[in-house]
Amino acid sequence: MRLERKKEHVESYLKTGYKGDNLFKDIYLENNSLPGFDFSEIDTKVEFLGKVVNFPLMINAMTGGGEELSTINEDLARIARDFKIPMAVGSQTIGLEYPKCRESFKIARDIIGEEGVLIGNLSATSTLEELQEACEMIDANAMQLHLNVCQELFMEEGDRTFTNLEKNISYLVKNFKKPIIVKEVGFGISSKVARKLFDSGVKYIDIAGSGGTNFIEIEDMRNFNKDYSDMYNWGIPTSKALIDCKREVPDAFYISSGGVNTADSIIKSLILGADFTAASGEVLRYLMHGGFNVARSYIESTIEKSRIMMMLLGVKKIEDLKGVDYVITGRLKELVSR
Ligand SMILES: Cc1cc2nc3c(=O)[nH]c(=O)nc-3n(C[C@H](O)[C@H](O)[C@H](O)COP(=O)(O)O)c2cc1C
Repeated sequence: MRLERKKEHVESYLKTGYKGDNLFKDIYLENNSLPGFDFSEIDTKVEFLGKVVNFPLMINAMTGGGEELSTINEDLARIARDFKIPMAVGSQTIGLEYPKCRESFKIARDIIGEEGVLIGNLSATSTLEELQEACEMIDANAMQLHLNVCQELFMEEGDRTFTNLEKNISYLVKNFKKPIIVKEVGFGISSKVARKLFDSGVKYIDIAGSGGTNFIEIEDMRNFNKDYSDMYNWGIPTSKALIDCKREVPDAFYISSGGVNTADSIIKSLILGADFTAASGEVLRYLMHGGFNVARSYIESTIEKSRIMMMLLGVKKIEDLKGVDYVITGRLKELVSR
């Protein structure tokens, strides 16, 4: 069942058509005609989970399970290794349940190597033992716990029990020895939730706002008995979630994701205070529709375009993006000034 579902998620995602809006277009940036340094001086390296990576973008959690999904993880890991960026595998529950599925996750570590950053993934309902086992499966540098209440509610066979989530996260963070990243799956972490997470000990928060992959549409495609198309616009646009969370809990480590798959949205995320960014669906789309080389060129050109943006903003280092001036316009202005 779980394996079939994962395949259906990948296939349905590739057929989705709804265009959400993460509202990064409402951030206005000024061109700098006198940057005062050379293009070769731009340095995009940053530290993440105790390792230096080449660029603050990771390939976020998607797959693992059967053979085809193993090939996807293999290709994604090769891209992550080539560009020295982190990667997260998809939910490992299937690997915990079926030992034969573990190889599809382990393959990512084999390819990325010891020096690469590889992150594991489980639901926030998992036990400490499951978290430890999933971590060992891929020798993960950190574990993601996904919060996907919205997705579950639109999934016919989905979970309907959420009472213990907060307590469980708090317990896991206190008892697990490696860093834990709590992430959404495309509906956005609100400032109130960020406050609760931070107060229970969570330092790493992946915003995963709306405007990119839309799991209401994906689940709707799998369910022939219902029509949820009037609800596809649910969720907090990524840029709003990021601004709100950063204001409410400035000291958390923020990963900006949810349609963050262009130089424009990556650089704007870092200007708004994100410490890192992550992309999922778009990488998968390039990989499955264009093949390995096309997905590889997509990442290469996104990094190149981000460097160009840094030059045009007069910024040499990633950390200096946090000091860049910007203007919030349009709907985003309306939403964040409430
Ligand atoms: C096909 C597919 C499968 C996914 N599977 C998982 C998963 O197993 N665990 C998880 O935490 N998120 C999963 N996600 C959600 C992504 O990690 C990410 O949070 C979300 O897609 C928003 O980012 P995006 O707009 O860049 O795709 C999946 C996304 C896609 C497209």
